[in-house]
Amino acid sequence: MSNMSKQVSAALLFALLAGLRVAAQAPNPTSVPNGLPTWAYNIPDKDQPPAKPLSGTIHVPSSTKEYDAAQVRSTTNPPDWFPDEHPAAPGIVKGPNAPPGAVCGTCHLMSGQGHPESADIAGLPAEYIVRQMKYFKSGARRDNERMTPIATNVSDEDVRQAADYFAAIRPIPWVKVIETTTPPKTYVSSDARHRVLVPDGGTEPIGHRIIETPVDPTQTSIRNPHSAFIAYVPPGSIAKGEALVKTGGTGKTIQCAICHGDDLKGLGEVPRLAGLQPVYVARQLICMQNGASAGTAVALMKKVVANLSEDDIISISAYLGSLPPR
Ligand code: HEC
Ligand code: HEC
Repeated sequence: MSNMSKQVSAALLFALLAGLRVAAQAPNPTSVPNGLPTWAYNIPDKDQPPAKPLSGTIHVPSSTKEYDAAQVRSTTNPPDWFPDEHPAAPGIVKGPNAPPGAVCGTCHLMSGQGHPESADIAGLPAEYIVRQMKYFKSGARRDNERMTPIATNVSDEDVRQAADYFAAIRPIPWVKVIETTTPPKTYVSSDARHRVLVPDGGTEPIGHRIIETPVDPTQTSIRNPHSAFIAYVPPGSIAKGEALVKTGGTGKTIQCAICHGDDLKGLGEVPRLAGLQPVYVARQLICMQNGASAGTAVALMKKVVANLSEDDIISISAYLGSLPPR
C-alpha cells in the first residue's frame, strides 16, 4: 500500500471506530497475525457470559470524586479519580475536546498505567513516547485497530503535550506476578478487552501462557488507577527470566541492563522495563520478532529477540513484571 492510501484507510477506519464504538475502548483485533500465540493478544472469546451493566453514581475507595455510569465508560471524557496524583492534564489526555477516540486517558488511564491490552506509559521518556507515535503514524510500528489511527489523527503539538504529561508521572507497582500451574479460569471479555474470571469459578492448566487479570474487575472496569493486575505465569518463570535478563542465560540473549539501565528502570531515551505488565512485554517481544514493532532500536532489539523461544519470552516478561517500577 502507498503511504497515501495507508493514511486514507487509517483515517477511514478511525472514522468508523469513532462512530460505531459504544464500549470504553476501540474494538479489539479479532485475529492474531501469522498464527502467533493468541494469549498475548487478548482476542475476545466466542462465549461471553452476560455482563452486569453499570448504573447510577459511581465511587471508588479514597477518592472524593463521583461520576455517573456513562462517564466512567466514556471514550471522550474519562474519569479522573485522583487528580492530585498527576500534573494538570492537557486536553488530548483528558478530553473532551480532542479528536474522537484519541483521548489518551481513556485507554491508558489518567495515571498512564493502562490495562494489559494497552500499555503502561507512566514515566516513560517523553522522547520515547513521541518516537513511538511517529512510528505508529508512519506504519513502522503497527496497531491497526488503535494506535495507528490515533497517531494519524493527533497533531504534533498534542503528542508533545501528552508525552510531557505521561513522562512526568511516577509509576506505582501495577502488577503482581504469581507462579502457578493452575490459575483461575478466565476468558477474554469483549467489553473489558482483557481476561476476567469466568462466573462459575474453577481453575485451568496454565500451559505455556501468561494469564493476566484484574485484582478487582469492577474497579478496573470503572478505571480506578489504584486497582492493579495479577499475572499468573508457569512455575520457575521468574528465576529463568532473571537468568536470561542478567547473564544471557543460554547465551541466546544479550544483557538487557546494558541499554535499559541498571535496575531496568530506563536509561536516557531507552524505556523502563521494570514493572511493566507481562502480557504487554511479551506481546512487544513477539511483535519485534515478527516485524510489527519498530524503533531506532529495531536493529538492536531485533538481534536481542531473534533467538528467544516463546517460553523464554514468557519467562523474561514474568521477571520484568515482578520488578519494582521505580
Ligand atoms: C483506544 C485505546 C487507546 C487510546 C485512546 C490511546 N492508546 Fe496508546 N495504546 C493503546 C494500545 C492498545 C497500545 C498497545 C499497542 C501494542 O500492543 O503495540 C498502546 C500503546 C501506546 C504506546 C506505546 C507504549 C510503549 O511502551 O511503547 C504509546 C507511547 C501510546 N500508546 C501513547 C498514546 C497517546 C499519547 C495517546 C493519546 C494521544 C494514546 N496512546 C491513546 C491504546 C490506546
Ligand atoms: C543494545 C541495546 C538494547 C539491549 C541490549 C536491549 N534493548 Fe530493549 N530496547 C532498546 C531500545 C533503544 C528500545 C526502544 C526502541 C524504540 O525507541 O522504539 C528498546 C525497547 C524494548 C522494549 C519495548 C518497550 C515498550 O515499552 O514497548 C522491550 C520490551 C525491550 N526493549 C526488552 C528488552 C529485553 C527483554 C532485553 C534483554 C533480553 C533488551 N530489551 C535488551 C535497546 C536495547
